[in-house]
Amino acid sequence: MSKISIFVGSVYGNAQHVAEDVSSMLDTKGVDSKIFMDPSVEDFKQADSVLVVSSSTGQGDIPPNLEFFIQDLRDAQPSMAQKPFAVAALGDSAYGDSFCGAGVQIFELLSELQGKPIAELLEVDACETLEPEVEVVAWVEKLVAEFQ
Ligand SMILES: Cc1cc2nc3c(=O)[nH]c(=O)nc-3n(C[C@H](O)[C@H](O)[C@H](O)COP(=O)(O)O)c2cc1C
Repeated sequence: MSKISIFVGSVYGNAQHVAEDVSSMLDTKGVDSKIFMDPSVEDFKQADSVLVVSSSTGQGDIPPNLEFFIQDLRDAQPSMAQKPFAVAALGDSAYGDSFCGAGVQIFELLSELQGKPIAELLEVDACETLEPEVEVVAWVEKLVAEFQ
């Protein structure tokens, strides 16, 4: 079975915690996954399928740990050739127009790179839940088959 590469953008650790719970859930289903907090374009090219879990910072900006990676992808434009992907964005609707802005940017970029979205962007609002991991784990659980 192929492996799901989980790329994580996190400033304070929420998205990282969510990604770790997703990875544990996948483990129990016998699905291999690997978490990347400091990924390279090469890691991305080698992925069988891509899950991004990212918070937003600033005004809808990409967290610093993924900033250069995303810029490198924009520069290198590696074709995903219909590789399956999904993006879960952690945000806070108090930020208005920039709600989940990083997730929106990443979803658009992966679409441009010819990835195959297996779900619409998931937007998790900190104003509505204190347990983003519950929502994201349940969402990924339903998508597992689509990643293969
Ligand atoms: C300084 C700062 C800026 C933020 N900017 C945004 C934003 O533009 N849009 C958004 O949806 N959420 C924004 N947030 C909310 C975070 O994305 C949210 O709290 C998230 O759960 C943090 O996850 P992390 O710990 O993985 O970084 C911001 C939070 C902080 C503290």
